[in-house]
Amino acid sequence: MANALDSRTPGSDVVRGGAQAFAPAARPLSPPDLERELATIRLPLEEATTLPGRLYHDPAVYQEELRTIFSRMWLCVGREEDIENPGDFLTRAVGQESVLVVRDTSGQINAFHNVCRHRGSRLVSESSGSGLKHLLCPYHAWTYGLDGTLRVAPHMEDARDFDRGQFGLNRVRLERWDGFLFINFSKEGPGLLEHLGEMGPKFARYGMGGLRRGKRVAYTVETNWKMLCENYSECYHCALIHPELNKVSHYTSGEIDLINRAAVGGWMELRREEYQTMSLNGRSNRPPFEGLPSEDLRRIHYYIVYPNMLLSLHPDYVMTHVIWPQDVGRCDIVCEFLFDSHQAAKPDFDPSDAVDFWDLTNRQDWHACELAYQGTQSGGYTKGRLSPLEWMVHIFDNFVADRLLGKTEWTPIVRSGKETP
Ligand code: FES
Ligand SMILES: [Fe+2]
Repeated sequence: MANALDSRTPGSDVVRGGAQAFAPAARPLSPPDLERELATIRLPLEEATTLPGRLYHDPAVYQEELRTIFSRMWLCVGREEDIENPGDFLTRAVGQESVLVVRDTSGQINAFHNVCRHRGSRLVSESSGSGLKHLLCPYHAWTYGLDGTLRVAPHMEDARDFDRGQFGLNRVRLERWDGFLFINFSKEGPGLLEHLGEMGPKFARYGMGGLRRGKRVAYTVETNWKMLCENYSECYHCALIHPELNKVSHYTSGEIDLINRAAVGGWMELRREEYQTMSLNGRSNRPPFEGLPSEDLRRIHYYIVYPNMLLSLHPDYVMTHVIWPQDVGRCDIVCEFLFDSHQAAKPDFDPSDAVDFWDLTNRQDWHACELAYQGTQSGGYTKGRLSPLEWMVHIFDNFVADRLLGKTEWTPIVRSGKETP
């Protein structure tokens, strides 16, 4: 009986490697249909709609997002400090893919597909660790150096023309930005800094490369990844569901100040002169970052670094969320708090003011996103309309539409008859 394997040329993708990230969509979407469906997203903000419910729930859309967004864009996997020493490693999973990032004995940081080149076993199951000397596949014991070379392949002596040099781990691109490690499953496209454009140097004054993590909190949320990004993009909901946040920073304050292909975001303000940061009482356990201009002492900058990193810069700490879709309706989220290294090294260092405030706020947000995920599955939901307070939601939705329709450059977006810069 004919099957999909019959059409393959035997061995054609065996030696050259160069793994394809992500399988094709289970049911390929029709671009003309999708374009029609997304036409109302393209309208000026004052006329535009929200995304249709299918965009959050259809597995075919999700597969297409994995293929066109997560397999082709730069993704933040962690911080350099996570893998400080040879043998330190971390893994991150998105969709069907898993990346392994490891520091080798020469000190170089490598990123590989977390997949054995023999019969494809997942190599490393832990999300992080240290002390690796080599990478031993748990299935038939092929063993790789931390630089990805295949060192040992038991009982392969009689395999004809088998060249171990051709079976090293498949590399994934890895680059750094201000202490953050980013990977890209695609071998094509611009480097990270070129891709970030204006976003790259925008917050150099915060010295993010030298910050140290004070806390990491992991969450699993039953929602679609886009709902988390959209929720982060507006404070329309803040007065109702975040009374603590709204007390410290008014929900209508601030403005968006950067829109490009890599990021979108802007700032909000602390509500009172005596407030120092985002915490339950507006007070901070530490001084602000050195050298910040006075306006930054009153502002919190909130950015989505597309597709899945939420970067929030406070006067005295930086918070990141990285969203890792695990299924069409489930995401893992890693939330981290970064501090001045001298502050973090103090024996009485206490990040709880920041962590407690955002843990409460995060849980309020996750609940809202889960409710929206449930509701939008209903036949009773059709596309909604946007408030002017949801300008950044509209920009994010247009980013998604661009990518789903095969565009890697962003489409200028219109508000009040004016195009964005
Ligand atoms: S699958 Fe890894 S050694 Fe066989
Ligand atoms: Fe919120």
